[in-house]
This record gives sequence, structure tokens and C-alpha cells, in this order.
Amino acid sequence: MKKIWTKAATDNSISQREISHQNLARTAAAESIVLLKNDGALPVKPGSIALFGAGAAYTIKGGTGSGEVNERRSVTIWEGLKNAGFTITTEGWLKEYSEYLEKEKQSFYKVFFKKVQKAMVSGGDTMINLMAEAFHYPAGRVIRDDELTQDETCIYVISRQAGECSDRQLDKYDYSLEPCEIENIKKITAHYKKNIVVINASSSMDLNPLDKIEGISAVVFFCQQGMEGGNALADIIAGKTSPSGCLTNTWAVNYDDIPFAREYSYLKGEISKEFYKEGIYVGYRYFDSFEIPVRYEFGFGLNYSEFKIECAGVDVKKSEVTVLAKVTNSGSAHSGRKVVQAYVSFPKGILTRESISLAAFGKSKTLSPGESEELKLTFNLTELAGYDEKTSSYLLDAGDYILYLGSSSRIKQAVSVITLDETAVTERCTKVCPLVSKLEELPPSGGDRKTDISGLKKIQVKASDIPCVTHNYSNTETEHSPKVKEWMKNLTTENMMDFLLGTGFSGGKEGLTVPGSAAFTTSNYIDMGISNVALCDGPAGLRLQPVSVVKKSGNVKPVEPPMEMLKYLPGIAKKFMLGNPKSGKVIYQYTTAFPVGTAIAQTWNTEIWESYGKAVGVEMAEYGATFWLAPGMNIQRNPLCGRNFEYYSEDPLLTGKVAANVTKGLQGNEGCYVAIKHYAANNQETKRNYSDSVVSERALREIYLKGFKIAVQEGGAKSVMTSYNLLNGTYAPNSYDLCVKLLRNEWGFKGLVMTDWLSTGKGLASNGLAIKNGNDLLMPGGNAFMKRLKEDFENGVFTEEDIKRCCANILELIAESRIQKEFEKSRT
Ligand code: BGC
Repeated sequence: MKKIWTKAATDNSISQREISHQNLARTAAAESIVLLKNDGALPVKPGSIALFGAGAAYTIKGGTGSGEVNERRSVTIWEGLKNAGFTITTEGWLKEYSEYLEKEKQSFYKVFFKKVQKAMVSGGDTMINLMAEAFHYPAGRVIRDDELTQDETCIYVISRQAGECSDRQLDKYDYSLEPCEIENIKKITAHYKKNIVVINASSSMDLNPLDKIEGISAVVFFCQQGMEGGNALADIIAGKTSPSGCLTNTWAVNYDDIPFAREYSYLKGEISKEFYKEGIYVGYRYFDSFEIPVRYEFGFGLNYSEFKIECAGVDVKKSEVTVLAKVTNSGSAHSGRKVVQAYVSFPKGILTRESISLAAFGKSKTLSPGESEELKLTFNLTELAGYDEKTSSYLLDAGDYILYLGSSSRIKQAVSVITLDETAVTERCTKVCPLVSKLEELPPSGGDRKTDISGLKKIQVKASDIPCVTHNYSNTETEHSPKVKEWMKNLTTENMMDFLLGTGFSGGKEGLTVPGSAAFTTSNYIDMGISNVALCDGPAGLRLQPVSVVKKSGNVKPVEPPMEMLKYLPGIAKKFMLGNPKSGKVIYQYTTAFPVGTAIAQTWNTEIWESYGKAVGVEMAEYGATFWLAPGMNIQRNPLCGRNFEYYSEDPLLTGKVAANVTKGLQGNEGCYVAIKHYAANNQETKRNYSDSVVSERALREIYLKGFKIAVQEGGAKSVMTSYNLLNGTYAPNSYDLCVKLLRNEWGFKGLVMTDWLSTGKGLASNGLAIKNGNDLLMPGGNAFMKRLKEDFENGVFTEEDIKRCCANILELIAESRIQKEFEKSRT
């Protein structure tokens, strides 16, 4: 019999924790919604309104795959508006859509699961490839004339969903609008006085057809907002909350305006190599440096009120810059919060830099009309250093750094100039992840060409005052705690090897179970006093199985399908997967579906980020999870990436700051850890296990690694998940440069490195090389993994010393985990 224990609840009632986290999810969602256009139609007093569009009836709360969180219940936009006191006069269309959607899903998944069955029998196509055939939410039908009501205001919600394993489609009306959506928007605008278009998608879309339609009063980027999205949107629509979210990526006018747009992922016809030809020119760095018009720029977001942003002083102490920004609500009718952004432009020198770079930001409290607040924005000049590949060093060129304050990357004002007397080297590094394929990068452009700096305050900074770090790459041993040393003494090499592998999502023979976990560590050493620990997904909350049944045998089965698509499994398979609630003890683990990564970032609110991390940690502690497989922090290099919704931004500084604050909040819960992912340059989903990201070292360091560095150094992230892809010819988990030189030697990381799930094996990254090169834990584990690992050990791919090092890194976090402490208490 399997001896298991769980921390799940045995009653199904809604807890106080659920209620308070739902409130936080609603606040975060409302603060992240971005108002893109408003001619004064918004806010709207609760009353009677017309509501159409797929996303109104079935609001998409997040993406698919491992990022899908299983909450108790999600509020649609339709419900949210009703909760806020609106009367919806178009429920016939919405009800019909819901029924139609259900039928569409049933027929899609009928075919889908037949293909899965065939693939499983023939062993041909893998489940992963099939997952790429994502369900496309239909737009619904054209609105009939008799469905147009007598209301003044109409809201139309466009929705799209994306997810793991597949990138968004450029055609097939995924990135673009469907003819039926365009026709419907034309119909409503011709009929209603006020027309609000809401976009319920994870990332940008081609909105060109809307430009040709007269009568659109407002456009709202709702994004995907988790379980409280419908209520949050209603808060914005009714003006209970004033919008204050700002975009964290650039919305291009045309897809082809994005650099090398047609070479992205599957679009170029083959995926074995992805050439990052744009170099450092990602997002606004490209659009601004090359002066390309955009639809909505990075950092953009309107408010109901007007705000004035003024510089109240700049102070530089050695390399620490403090900018005082005075924000005033200069409107007369609405209160609201304002995001203030500081950008810097660079002098020309050894490096040609992007025309501007985000340096700092802050968000005001809610200001009433006429009220002001002074925000203190701080940054260190060293954070802005560029990377010189020739000398393997980060440097700041001598000359003028112009400082701007504003409300977006394009709405800003130069406020002062910081002049560096000589070029300063800030870090001396070694070459990492060298190119093995030829890469022709976009020739540089940028530098500030037009700003008139006469009359601006000038501040002199001496290069000699700027600190320089010289990194040491000799492999110093990590000092381990007495408890770990003691454990290690009693473990044989074979025992230690057990720790290097996970035990799959169902866990081991005994020990803790957290149903719905992505995997556990070994439970073979429970008798020795070492608990197994659970690793659970995110990033939009804690992904667990909400209702399970624990049978007498110790087996645990879900009572409800733990993923939306599994609801459509054919009868027999479903019966096999689901447990009968009467067959044992029923347990509950209801977690909160928070706004997706992009949405959380759009709040630009460090307090929200920290509270959200803290809340996830509280849920982890409640149910016994130790690792949260999040934050997802890959750079949004292209809007078609299927997992953009999990990620924060196209900007590395913002990405790093969100992750660092979420990490602080989460790890503030004793013995709970983040696993920042996917390290690194995993910016597409199509055939993600086989694609080689060809990136220059400079772009890698300035764009793709910078966020991770911030999460480690400022956030104190305790674990890192490597990615599936190759990076310049080497699989990420097999890269000594990524796992040791950068992470441990340069950034001072002391935690645990794990692989992404099933990223090692035949035709993939090597198990043995992962262990040799600094990737401690191989996930999700299992017999085939162990067989390969043993073979590699016998063939000398890695040594006993490597096993000891990896095992100790894992044991260190187990020893400090909350679960281990609870386990020890239970044994005394
Ligand atoms: C995803 C990871 C996730 C893991 C465990 C993988 O497919 O890429 O982000 O954490 O599965 O579910």
C-alpha cells in the first residue's frame, strides 16, 4: 500500500484565503487593463447596454498548457458587467454563442483525441506535436439587424487564446481580425452611439481594419485576466477603478514592420535554426532606433484623467541616479494612478546603442483631480552598461546620457544630461555561448539624434567613481549546511543519483502528494528523514488539481478534469482518468487564477507584483508545494510566440523587475521557492525542443539574460529552469556557460538548476552532460531517465563529484523547505 500524506482540504467550502486572494486578483486585473483609445465614452454609468463578441460570453482567462490554472470559478465579462449592475440587452446572441462554442469544442476534440489515440498506438506523432493543433475560438456569427437594441452603448469583445507547444498563426485569423468580427463592429458602430472594442487576447493583434471603421469610441486591451477578469473589466467600464495599466510591448502597425518578421519560427518554413538577426533591436529598441511608426508604443496607456509629469530634481551620487518626478492629476473629473517612466539615451562611442532604454519607473498612488505626488525613481548607471564582445566587458561610453521622463517610450521629455568623463568598464567577463553558425545582424542604428540638450541641467560623473567587477570563473565549491553534509554521509552514490531525477507527476511510492504537481523529488529516503517535495506550475497562479479522490490503496485520481481540454476526452478515456468520488476520500485544492504574466506586468506596480508573489506562496504553503515553476521570463521577441502570455515584456529591465518582486514576495514565505524559466532564448514554441537559437553574445547578455540576472541578484531566485532549445549549438541544459559561468560565477547564484520537462533524452539534450555542466535536477524523471543517466555515468560522461555537487544543491533546498520542516516536526 502506498503511504501518502496530503495537505489538501477535506471540505469544499470557500475559505477566507480564497476570498482575499480573489480580491487581490481583481485589483491586479483592473490595474493591468490598458486603455488604448477613449473619446470620452468611458466610463459608462451602470445601466442598460448591448454586449456582443466571443470574449464576452466565454472570456479567456489565460493560455493553455502548463500555464493553465484550475480555479474554482472564473467570472466572464458578461457576468462581471451584470454583477456591477449593468443590464445586458443582447443575451440571446451571447447564449447562442455559448451553445455554439460548446458544440465546436466537442467536434474539434472528438477528432483531436482520435488523432492522439492513433499516435499513441502507432508511436508516430507525439502528443506534443498534436498539442500544436490548438483549438481556435470561433468569433461567432454576424449580428442580425433585429438583435441591435435601443441602447446608447455597445461593447464588443474580441478574443484569442494561445498556449504551449504552438505559436500563434499569422493567417487563420489569429493575429488578424475575422471578417465576421469586422462586419459586426461595422454593424454596431453604424447603430450605437458609443462603441467600445475590448481585446481579450494575450498579446498584440493586427488592428488595421478598425482604422477604417467610423464610430469606435474606445479600445481597451483587456489581455487575459484570470478568474476575476469579468469583475475587473466592469470596474474599469463603470469607472469604479480608473485605468492605469500600460503596455509592456510595442504594437506594430503591420506585422511586417517587426524586424525579420517573416523569418520568425514556422514562418520561414524550417525551424532547425532561429537567427536572431535583429540583435539588440527588440521591440521599442528597434522601432525607436529605426524610427518606424507604431500603433501603440511601449509603455503606452491612457487614463480617464489627464496627468502632468514634471522633473523635481535629479541627483547622482557616484553612479546612483535618483530622479524626482512630480505627478499631478491635472484633470477635473476622475481620480487615478499614473505610471511614470524614465528613459536614457546613450552617447556614441565604442558601442552603438539603441536610441533609448528604460532605466526606471514608478506608479503614483490614486490621485484626486488637482492632487500631486513626488515619486522617487532610482537606478544605477551600471545597469545601463552595454556589452562589448571584443573585450568581453560591460561598459559605459564616455559622453552625454540624456535622461527623459514621461508616460511612454514616445511621450517623454528630456530632463537632464549626465556626462561621463571617460569610458567606464563596469564588468570584466569571459566569452560565453559563442556563435557556431554565421549570423548576420542588423547594422546598428540609434543614439539620440534630435534632442536639444541646451538649457538642460548637466551633471558630471567620473568614470573613476563607477565600480568595476572582475568575475572569477574558477569553480569554487559551494559551502553546504551541516544537515546536508550529514545526509550526504549516509547516502551512497547510487542513492544520490535518485535525487538527480524527479519522480513524475504522481510522485513516488510514498510521502507527500500534492495532486496536480508537475513532479516530485524522490521519496525513497523518507525513512532517513528526507521528505520528497512537490514542484508545481504557474505562472498565472498555482496550478493544482482542484478536486481529487484518495483511494484506500493510496492512489490519487482527479474527480474533475484538471485541464479544460480534458473535459472533452472520449468516454472511456475520461472514465479511466477520473476517479469516482465515492471510491475514497475527496480532497480539495482551490487556488487563485491571477492575471497572466503579461497582464501582471502591465500594472507596472511593484507592490502588486510582490503581493501576488506572496499570495502564491501562501497557497503553496497551504497545500504543501515547494517549488513554483515560474515566473516565466522569456523576452517577448515576436507577438506570435504562443507563450507570450506567460512572459512579461519585450524589455529586459522590466522583465527582471517584475520577476524580482514576485520572487521576493513568494520566497518571503519560508521554504517556498520560485523556478525562473525558461533559461534561455526560448522565444518560440513551434518544435521548441529542436530549434537552435542563434544569438550574438551581446544580444544575449543585453536582452535575453538581463532579466534572469536581475531576478537572481535582486530577487534572490533560488532555482532556475533551463529551456528546451539549443543556444548557439548547445542544448540549454547542457550548457556550462549558461548553468555555471553566467549563473553561478558571474551572478553569484547559489541554488538549484532543473531541466524543463522531458527536455533530455534520445535526440534531445543529454542527461549526462546536463549533470556534468551544472544542471542539477532532471525532470520529470522516471525509469528511462535513470537508465540513460546510469549509462552516461558508466561511460564517464560525468563523475561521482558531479553527482555529489548536484545532489547537495538539491538537498540544500529540500533541507530548508517548509515541507521538510513540517515533516521533521511530524516525526518528533
Ligand atoms: C513547460 C514548463 C512547465 C513544465 C512542467 C513544460 O512543458 O515548458 O514551463 O513548467 O512543462 O509542467
